Parts: sequence; C-alpha cells; structure tokens
Amino acid sequence: MSSGVIVYKTKEEIELQRESSLLVGKTLAAIASHLKPGITTQQLDTIAEQFIRDHNAEPSFKGYHGYKHSLCISVNEEVVHGIPGARVIADGDIVSIDCGVFKNGFHGDSAYTFPIGNVSEEVLNLLRVTKTSLMKGIAKARNGNRVGDISAAVQEYAESFGYGVVRELVGHGVGRNLHEKPEVPNYGKRASGPVLKEGMVIAIEPMINMGPRHIRQLKDGWTVVTLDRAPSAHFEHTVAITSGQPDVLSSFQEIEIAITKNNNITEVISTIS
Ligand code: MF3
Ligand code: CO
Repeated sequence: MSSGVIVYKTKEEIELQRESSLLVGKTLAAIASHLKPGITTQQLDTIAEQFIRDHNAEPSFKGYHGYKHSLCISVNEEVVHGIPGARVIADGDIVSIDCGVFKNGFHGDSAYTFPIGNVSEEVLNLLRVTKTSLMKGIAKARNGNRVGDISAAVQEYAESFGYGVVRELVGHGVGRNLHEKPEVPNYGKRASGPVLKEGMVIAIEPMINMGPRHIRQLKDGWTVVTLDRAPSAHFEHTVAITSGQPDVLSSFQEIEIAITKNNNITEVISTIS
C-alpha cells in the first residue's frame, strides 16, 4: 500500500494539509448531525460526498483501488473498510466512520466511532479506551522519537484493558498520496522503527477489538470484521511532526459539538484536540 520513500512537507504544505484535514472533521460533523436509527449507510455516504464536493474538494477514497464510496462505515463487529449500502443503522450500534478528503493537492484522513442510542457501558469503554489510545500515540509523535514509540504507547494502553490490538492494518504517512511511508503500526517496541522528523505527516489510527485481535476479511473484498464478531472501535487523526509539540491537523471538535446536539449519540469523552 504505502510504497516509496518518506516525503517531508514544508510548513506551507502542512497548512494546505491542515485545510484538507479540517474539512474531514467538518464532514464527519455533518454526518454526526444526521446519524440516527433508521438512516442507511448509503445515505450517510451520499451526504458526505455532497458536503466534500460543496467545499471544492474530492473524496480521497472514491476510486482508490476500485473503492466506489466516499466513506468507510464499519458497524459493531466490522473493524474498518465497511462499504456503505442498504444497511440501516439501529439503536445500540457503534458506527466507525472513516473519511478522507483531497484538496489543494493534499489528503486529510480521520475517523471517529459513534455510539448510537443505548450502548452498554462495556462497549462505551471500548470507545473511550480506543480514543485515549490514539491520544497516547499522538503524544509520542515528536521529532527524534521513533514510530515504535507511538506503536508501543497505543498497544500498552489498549492491552492494559484486555483489548485486542489489530495488527494487519496500520497507520501511515499521508500527503499528496493517501498512503505514504512510513507504516505506523498500533503495536511494537519503543525506540524501534523509523525516526520521526519535522515535516513528516502521519495518520495514526488504532483499531481496537473488545475481544482478541484476530480479524478476517469478508467476501466483498473490503469489509474487515473481528474473528469472534465482538465489537471493534477506530479513531484516526492526521498529525504533523514539528520541532515541538505534535500538530494534530484534523479535529474532533466540530464532530463533538454535533454529538452534543444529537440526542441519538452518546458523548464518549470530551476532546483533547
Ligand atoms: N481510510 C483508510 C485509512 O485510514 C483507507 C481507506 S481504503 C479505501 O488508511 F479504499 F476505502 F479508501
Ligand atoms: Co488512514
């Protein structure tokens, strides 16, 4: 998937990529305002595509390796790459929505898992831990650290709750291409892997299972589900490495404002970024 060399971005390029990444957050917020039992995943995809195009951007996923939609929508035991279609969202579902937009030559990539209606405290905790594991990973996204520092931070936090960390799918560099070097696994050893340097932009995206880490892919060629069919959560941010603090280019802020206004969605934890 991610081939070639690491591409470093200038400060100007990072500002362009921030625009793309913020538009992903706005798109997910638009989706969050429509999320309720009874809506189909295809309807959500249509709303997202229109929203993206209305903002002079293109959906990154559409056409990617033959993918025909703008979002990946993965419900309950679906981990990632769920295909929008006739499926109707129901009370008690958790819905992971992954979105990419391409604008001004750069991609932004971000994902959020929404609990719809009455979701058990046990499953809400999976969402909290997955989101917090993303924040733990982001905290390590600093010049001079290594990719393994991010990976280990995510893994150690998620596994301390007994959850399974998916290994077959990983985060990635992101820029003029949706998937660039380096790979950013959600498991690994501290002080291992490529060195993080100013100008790198990476998508960090833990996929955390309630049960064991094992997955399989459905015959549709895309949808990844947990082997035991227990729930899985996914949160993703696009993050730039700077000379100082990690710079989170995408944002959950507007998503969480939309959640607050939508009585069909439970607030997981308030946002750090
Ligand atoms: N958004 C996924 C990622 O985070 C990639 C989606 S694959 C696609 O890397 F084909 F659906 F685009
Ligand atoms: Co990604």
